[in-house]
Amino acid sequence: MQAKVLVPKRVFPEAIEYLQDKVELDYNGTDENLSAAELFDRLQDKDGVVSMLTNRFSAEVMDALPKLRVIANIAVGFDNIDIPAATERKIIVTHTPDVLTETTADFAFALMMSAARRIPEGERVLRAGKWDKWGIDLFCGQDTHHATLGILGIGRIGQALARRAQGFQMRVQYYDVFRATAEVEQELNLQFVAFDELFQTSDFVSVHVPLLPETRRLVGAEQFQLMKKTAVFVNTSRGPVVDEGALVEALEEGQIAAAGIDVYEREPVVEPRLLKLENAILTPHIASASFNTRRAMCMVAARNVVAALEGKRPPNPVNACLFEAA
Ligand code: GLV
Ligand code: GLV
Repeated sequence: MQAKVLVPKRVFPEAIEYLQDKVELDYNGTDENLSAAELFDRLQDKDGVVSMLTNRFSAEVMDALPKLRVIANIAVGFDNIDIPAATERKIIVTHTPDVLTETTADFAFALMMSAARRIPEGERVLRAGKWDKWGIDLFCGQDTHHATLGILGIGRIGQALARRAQGFQMRVQYYDVFRATAEVEQELNLQFVAFDELFQTSDFVSVHVPLLPETRRLVGAEQFQLMKKTAVFVNTSRGPVVDEGALVEALEEGQIAAAGIDVYEREPVVEPRLLKLENAILTPHIASASFNTRRAMCMVAARNVVAALEGKRPPNPVNACLFEAA
């Protein structure tokens, strides 16, 4: 008998083609989110689910889904899933690292540059018909080249950002609870600095840590106060890593020059005060959204769910401890 898998929302068709003959598929091929009740209902008889970062799997939800063996998240982040609870229940959780690293780093760099050079702001003025003359300091911003980039979190994406910065002759420093290896520091010309120093001395600060209990509101009023008035802050990781209220105040009061933000505390709700700020570039959680990468993420999740249901070690387990010899 084939394992039963739910795909609760439309994904790239290649993933569905792959899944179709390997599992018994229940596919909601629409862009509508299933209600919590319907999701729950359709998961009752499922062995696996290809989940999105908007699907929450708490201990209570897992307890009520006794057949569920695999959650294959289409994301590198997995803060929507209670991992210890999944592990306790021997539910395998997988994610999609690597395939989105370069695309996400591209986007973080794009946010850095468009915030620093005020590109969306200038475009808004032009489109509104309010550009009436060239001016010597019209939309002057900050330079990216030769500036100091501070990377908070030096995992795959943080490192990919550092690689890009080299081409702009930036000075790159980072803070992470895990220090990078000497080889990585040397290859990427990285300077390890203390947490406070990162904020004090960087022209750009870009956040690349996962959302964990320890990283919730890691960046708040205290950190923004440390930053240069000319600094640009970028977040493409998870909204709750940053105190959004403190970010708004820092931008309103000119504690920092600008911000490029892709993720929010209460997605898809965006803090109304943030929407009013000309010096905030706001995008709708799209850092990994290139066609190639989103397609690859769907395929990776599909391969993970199938492998796990076949009793193999999936390529990208989050709770890899489930596969360690007892
Ligand atoms: C998207 O935010 C992801 O975690 O892949
Ligand atoms: C995510 O993949 C990271 O390690 O930065």
